Amino acid sequence: MYFPAYRPRRLRRNSNLRKLLAETKLSVDDFIYPMFVRPGKNKKVPVSSMPGIYKQSIDNLIKEIREVKKLGIKAILLFGIPERKDEMGTEGYDENGIIQKAIKEIKKKVEDIIVITDVCMCEYTSHGHCGIIRDGDVDNDETLQYLARMSLSHAQAGADMVAPSDMMDGRVGVIRDELDANGFSSIAIMSYAAKYASAFYGPFREAAESPPQFGDRRSYQMDPPNVREALREIELDIEEGADIVMVKPALAYLDVIRAAREGFDHPIAAYNVSGEYSMVKAAGKLGWIDEELVMMEVLTSIKRAGADLILTYFAKDAAKVLSRK
Ligand code: PBG
Repeated sequence: MYFPAYRPRRLRRNSNLRKLLAETKLSVDDFIYPMFVRPGKNKKVPVSSMPGIYKQSIDNLIKEIREVKKLGIKAILLFGIPERKDEMGTEGYDENGIIQKAIKEIKKKVEDIIVITDVCMCEYTSHGHCGIIRDGDVDNDETLQYLARMSLSHAQAGADMVAPSDMMDGRVGVIRDELDANGFSSIAIMSYAAKYASAFYGPFREAAESPPQFGDRRSYQMDPPNVREALREIELDIEEGADIVMVKPALAYLDVIRAAREGFDHPIAAYNVSGEYSMVKAAGKLGWIDEELVMMEVLTSIKRAGADLILTYFAKDAAKVLSRK
């Protein structure tokens, strides 16, 4: 049936019709809100390149988590900024490390919030790389035991889920074994399965104070031109026991999200990363775009591409918009 019998505009005539026909619906249930915790008391340091995002001490973090919960958000992703960094990233797996303390406090003081932890060495190492350095490069196999220890320490502190973001080969299996061997078989793994070496992480590295001190992350994170390789990475992580697989970044990789959705039945998460957030915030501040509309359009595109879950710094802003609708 073609024009004039068929007129697509008939179903776009007003807002109720458009809502009735919307193929993709964003929900606050889809969001995971990333948060940064640092040592100290009553600290709240703004991340200059990410308006609205702070590095906070545990007391202030808990205040914000209460607010996050009130908005209907169900899960947070926690990053720790340690007191001290060293070659081996020891604070990352210390039971009294910043993140372990934060998890315990959250679990003591806030009910019913899913705490997911980022598992990676880069926030804790003095060189800023995601693993242990041997002969000038990150040693894959040596790093695995530290990632397993870090994951276990998060689970012991009370984390609900761990999210390895280091991109070492074989880490999901090693983490699964370590958790299971210590009685944490119910703790889920959300793996950063297809994580690209992306310039969109720039603002995050200011937030997490984790830029690599030499070289870059291209020998372990994925090369942007590749999508078939992403499917192999995802398949490996699923084989090793990942419960949720993530594509990261989201916006410049919507085709990867779509391919992942079509290739696998596992839940797919997509990380709307710091640079994607900062660009929208910056252009919005300058009055060059309508920040709120662009935010909702971006998040909808990530869902439409096939993501079940969206990790986003916009979670609070978007939850407010959704609650008005
Ligand atoms: C740690 C990690 C990074 C991000 C999440 N976990 C930085 C990186 O790999 O360089 C980026 C998140 C963002 O940009 O919002 N490895």
